Amino acid sequence: MVRKVLVTGGAGYIGSHTLVALQEAGFEAVVIDSLCNSSEIALQRVQRITGKPVRFYPGDIRDRRLLDQILTENKIHSVIHFAGLKAVGESSQKPIDYYQSNVAGSLVLLEAMQEAGVKRLVFSSSATVYGSEAPVPYVETLQTGNTSNPYGTSKWMVEQILQDAAAANQELSVALLRYFNPVGAHPSGLIGEDPQGIPNNLLPYIAQVAVGKRKELSIFGDDYPTSDGTCLRDYLHVMDLAIGHVRALEWIEDKVGTEAFNLGTGRGISVLEIVRAFEQASGVPIPYTVAPRRAGDLPAFWADASKAKSELGWVADLGLEQMMVDTWRWQRENPQGYNATHSES
Ligand code: NAD
Ligand code: UFG
Repeated sequence: MVRKVLVTGGAGYIGSHTLVALQEAGFEAVVIDSLCNSSEIALQRVQRITGKPVRFYPGDIRDRRLLDQILTENKIHSVIHFAGLKAVGESSQKPIDYYQSNVAGSLVLLEAMQEAGVKRLVFSSSATVYGSEAPVPYVETLQTGNTSNPYGTSKWMVEQILQDAAAANQELSVALLRYFNPVGAHPSGLIGEDPQGIPNNLLPYIAQVAVGKRKELSIFGDDYPTSDGTCLRDYLHVMDLAIGHVRALEWIEDKVGTEAFNLGTGRGISVLEIVRAFEQASGVPIPYTVAPRRAGDLPAFWADASKAKSELGWVADLGLEQMMVDTWRWQRENPQGYNATHSES
């Protein structure tokens, strides 16, 4: 029997790539997304890639009536919960919006799942839950918390809520996926990351410089205690991350309780290394200046991803060059993101 998965936030960057991986693995996907940070065109493109339909409910996860309707109309087997706000800097300006969407939204979803008897959940968490004092590489057994912005705190809070919920309900099965730094795009060039306004994240910014939308990159600090002075992060290909969700769904199938998994490559790459790798993959020079450090940035962190390998059978297969080639293809072929096209079929 085909298993139906409710994907909250499925029109977003990681959600849309995960839809492709789900459909390719034989799952059926139902999406709820408010489109507050995405476009319905992403869903049309997913259908073009896979040739399979995605059932879409436009709306907010805090709309309990809509969630009930979705869970009643579809025999939902499990949920992948991406929906939420994700801009670290903005979360300090608008903390209430972040707690509302990320924490209250998750509570409404959990209540609806409980009432409908849906017992399996994969949650989009983040390496940010390890906080500012954790030693590297981050391993799942480290204590979490000590987060430094409302976004990170909201992820940490939802992890706590899910742990308590699973402890109280012996049937609940939850995978907490702690992503490191997803980059890249589907190799078709049809879907990718499409940030609104000025990109906060490194790769979308570089890609917009390459395509002429931004003048130059600002590298936030070159005086960190790293080999070249710029920060180290664990960048992983979004298609590897997408497959991680399929593995997690398979894993929670016959488990109960809550389990956290780091999804990363296990390797720290510097900002300057990324710039060089992108230039090499695209053939386009990326002008940059060194700017002051960005508040809240940690010098270096990467994953110990051995638990995902041993428990889920998952490793990040795609290398840095592929991440850059695919980022560039997406940006080059969609210089205005999804905006340039009004509707597609
Ligand atoms: P995204 O903004 O592209 O996707 C989130 C989607 O959720 C968007 O389509 C948005 O419209 C939708 N959404 C937001 N609030 C909603 C609500 N209340 N109801 C319904 N839909 C809503 O972000 P992404 O990069 O794809 O991230 C997906 C998830 O992964 C998020 O929870 C994010 O916090 C988490 N995460 C992302 C990263 C990263 O670097 N991209 C790293 C760690 C964790
Ligand atoms: N950077 C620049 N210039 C830019 C943008 C970024 O130099 O214009 C640098 C940052 O200072 C940092 C590195 O590039 O050293 C990566 O920055 P990103 O903003 O791309 O990623 P972060 O590691 O800061 O944060 C990301 C997600 C968070 C998540 C975190 C851990 O945005 O949601 O990874 O998973 F919490």
